[in-house]
Amino acid sequence: MIVVTGATGQLGRLVVEQLLKAVPAKEIVAAVRTPSKAADLAAKGVTVREGDYAKPETLLTAFAGAEKVLLVSSNELFSDRVVQHKAAVDAAKAAGVKLLVYTSVLRADTSGLGLAAAHRATEEYIKASGLPYVFLRNGWYMENHTEALGPALEHGAILGASKDGRIAGAMRRDYAAAAVKVLTEASAVKPVYELAGDAPYTVADIAAEVSRQSGKPVVYNDMPVAEYEKALQQFGLPVPLAKLLADSDAGVARGELDDSGHELSRLLGRPTESLATAVQEALKG
Ligand SMILES: NC(=O)c1ccc[n+]([C@@H]2O[C@H](COP(=O)([O-])OP(=O)(O)OC[C@H]3O[C@@H](n4cnc5c(N)ncnc54)[C@H](OP(=O)(O)O)[C@@H]3O)[C@@H](O)[C@H]2O)c1
Repeated sequence: MIVVTGATGQLGRLVVEQLLKAVPAKEIVAAVRTPSKAADLAAKGVTVREGDYAKPETLLTAFAGAEKVLLVSSNELFSDRVVQHKAAVDAAKAAGVKLLVYTSVLRADTSGLGLAAAHRATEEYIKASGLPYVFLRNGWYMENHTEALGPALEHGAILGASKDGRIAGAMRRDYAAAAVKVLTEASAVKPVYELAGDAPYTVADIAAEVSRQSGKPVVYNDMPVAEYEKALQQFGLPVPLAKLLADSDAGVARGELDDSGHELSRLLGRPTESLATAVQEALKG
């Protein structure tokens, strides 16, 4: 039995949908914070269980009988993320899980990105647990940039502080496909995958692609990190989120999200989806 946590999230849903093509539904458990949000998955024959990282007792029942668990990292970015992940690791150990697969971040062990710290701490905890594991060190989601193109089209500009740093982004569905491979193919199990897209791009490249496809002029306006952070706050983002996003852009400028290893496409046995596809799908709505 394969348990997928965060299964009502965007990545988790894609994993469950793709798993359904690889294994019978009765072998899949969707562990979710709010079971009522997973009625569509239940309708497909997937077992839905409550699995709330903040309620460790639910994780124990969610993981009961599981051979493999995909732990999708929590989107609780500013408080108890590592505490939540540790609770899930403890529950996986108590349930006697044979493989724990964790969605981490590109080069989590050395990354200078602020958001990598929680992934690094989680990876270390998993290693110390003695559980057999796979770290799926996912790079940037292309959708981080493409799913909110409204303001860019309206104002003709994308703001940022990533300079001409390259991002080896990939679409969520490619990262989901990688997770499905690892969960269903014994030959794909190895401790660490550095997963990223085949064709790195800059944010200026994103602006150019949006212009090309939409027919509207869109440019990339690069600004100093502190100014970008201030601008994000002025747009109404909470201070910690503005800081995190500005820090991530500074990381892109340093090359933290660039990659040329092609490990994702090798695992999938096909090229990763292109930026043009992500922009096209985003513009279609
Ligand atoms: N690589 C990247 O570029 C990138 C970008 C953004 C995020 N991430 C990371 O990748 C993860 C998956 O991405 P995503 O796009 O699928 O994010 P998402 O759509 O925000 O999904 C996050 C999932 O985590 C679940 N969750 C949050 N708190 C929980 C709790 N206490 N107990 C159980 N589940 C909980 C959410 O449950 P609900 O459905 O109930 O809300 C949701 O299903 C994120 O959580 C984040 O750690 C990576």
